[in-house]
Amino acid sequence: MIEIKNLSKTFKKNKVLDHIDLTIKKGDVVAVIGPSGAGKSTLLRCINLLEEAEEGTITIDGLRVDVKKKTKQELINLRQNTAMVFQQFNLFRRKTALENVMEGLVVVKKLAKNEAEEIAKFQLEKVGLAKQIDSYPKQLSGGQQQRVAIARALAMNPKLLLFDEPTSALDPELVGEVLDTIKATALEGNTMILVSHEMNFVKKVANRVLFLYNGKIIEDGTPKEVFENPQNTRTKEFLSKIAYSTEPEYQI
Ligand SMILES: Nc1ncnc2c1ncn2[C@@H]1O[C@H](COP(=O)(O)OP(=O)(O)OP(=O)(O)O)[C@@H](O)[C@H]1O
Ligand SMILES: [Mg+2]
Repeated sequence: MIEIKNLSKTFKKNKVLDHIDLTIKKGDVVAVIGPSGAGKSTLLRCINLLEEAEEGTITIDGLRVDVKKKTKQELINLRQNTAMVFQQFNLFRRKTALENVMEGLVVVKKLAKNEAEEIAKFQLEKVGLAKQIDSYPKQLSGGQQQRVAIARALAMNPKLLLFDEPTSALDPELVGEVLDTIKATALEGNTMILVSHEMNFVKKVANRVLFLYNGKIIEDGTPKEVFENPQNTRTKEFLSKIAYSTEPEYQI
């Protein structure tokens, strides 16, 4: 179980996260939606301590970290329990797909090279890249690069996967293959938080949707509840403005 309590983050005078409380069950796929600047990325970055929140606790499977008095070891433990997939893939340019996936296993998990290679190959095969293991990022399409990034995240066997708009940097025709990979990851029972503007995908894959607005979670329910019967006027406005009705229907 994942428990976030009283998480707050301010940039200068801009309160981006305002005492966020959030409990997530194992296997949950939680989608975070909300307008630009609402704090969605900041929330993910504060959860894995890429960004330092000014107060709050983050507990992953009983491992509790108080952000104000975290130790170096707690930071390492928490990082090992989470893995993040970014909008811009963030692969190492000078490493092959295989080396990219192996990196964390060798450097962070201290696995032997042959063991890391075995896991990396398995994960790359799972995301449909068996033939591309020796390719460098620039030899891969955006969709393939993002699937390497997903394989890299999965290889670490994290307790929580964080996706920050994983398809928004992709050409439209490449979005589907990445969404398929994320869907397969969800079906395997991984616990994940997904920031996405692919509303049709969110509807089908998430079992819980949060609407973040002005640093607070102002809507929290099943996709059906949030999309069909939003409680807050801000959510209603947001949903009526976004063009998800014209977004191509995501087929599963
Ligand atoms: N490193 C930073 N320094 C200062 N302000 C920041 C920083 N990172 C984010 N912010 C501010 O925090 C607010 C929330 O940003 P965040 O990136 O979390 O929003 P978001 O919901 O992910 O938006 P988007 O949908 O555009 O990605 C914004 O006002 C942003 O300008
Ligand atoms: Mg963002």
